Amino acid sequence: MLTTLALAIATTVSGANLLKNGDFEDHAAQHCKDSWCIVSDSAIAPWQLVSGPAVEVDNTPWKAYSGDWSMDLCGDVPYTIGQTVALTPGDAYTLTFMLNENYCGTYNKTGFVSATGSPQQVFFHNSAQFAGKWIPVTYQFVATDANTQIQIGSTTAGSCGPVIDNVILVDNGVAIANNGQQKAKGGKCTSKKVNVNKGKDKDGKDDKDKDDDDKDKDDKGKDKDDKGKDKDDKGKDSDDKDNGKGKHDDDDDN
Ligand SMILES: *[C@@H]1O[C@H](CO)[C@@H](O)[C@H](O)[C@H]1NC(C)=O
Repeated sequence: MLTTLALAIATTVSGANLLKNGDFEDHAAQHCKDSWCIVSDSAIAPWQLVSGPAVEVDNTPWKAYSGDWSMDLCGDVPYTIGQTVALTPGDAYTLTFMLNENYCGTYNKTGFVSATGSPQQVFFHNSAQFAGKWIPVTYQFVATDANTQIQIGSTTAGSCGPVIDNVILVDNGVAIANNGQQKAKGGKCTSKKVNVNKGKDKDGKDDKDKDDDDKDKDDKGKDKDDKGKDKDDKGKDSDDKDNGKGKHDDDDDN
């Protein structure tokens, strides 16, 4: 009875996350007793490994955006995870997640997000621009398949990759075609499309919860910051190079 009731409520709440274990909290602790671990995808079920040898779940190397765990999408090498969800073809969906980076390695961490039948979208996090901050990534698509696989993967070589947390997928209702034709479908409210704001509220709440914890982390993180200095310097070099290039293009240096 209670379960049925809970389900009924969950499905009527607009903007409910269609993904399971989007926060990577459900099983990671059972599979990882250390600060971070390279393990099988049972640690993130029902997410599965789509390509690559193993996944990495991370607890204390940095602070997760929410909960205790996040994922560096490079274990020893880059990998891709996926989760298959039942979607309504023709509905518009918004996938959001929070992105950070494992600060070692190359300073610009790149990856991609995709859904079956839709073009993939590239994302990146570079230490020069974002300096260890969690940034939101938004991917919008119209479902073409009742069984859609969401994939998120690293395209960064090596063992230090983009880090993700808090993956949320919401149904925005029937997509409006570009030519103005609207697929008739039970009069679903198309204003649902503006669900993006709900996501923002949610994020805002999380941020508030986190503020206190973040302070702890900043202190703890000092070692890390010091270690990171070499890397930051590298980042600055690259920045300088970039600026140089940018200027080079605009100015008549040569
Ligand atoms: C980081 O990589 C992305 C994706 O390849 C690229 O668009 C972006 O310009 C890069 N940023 C820097 C600062 O190199």
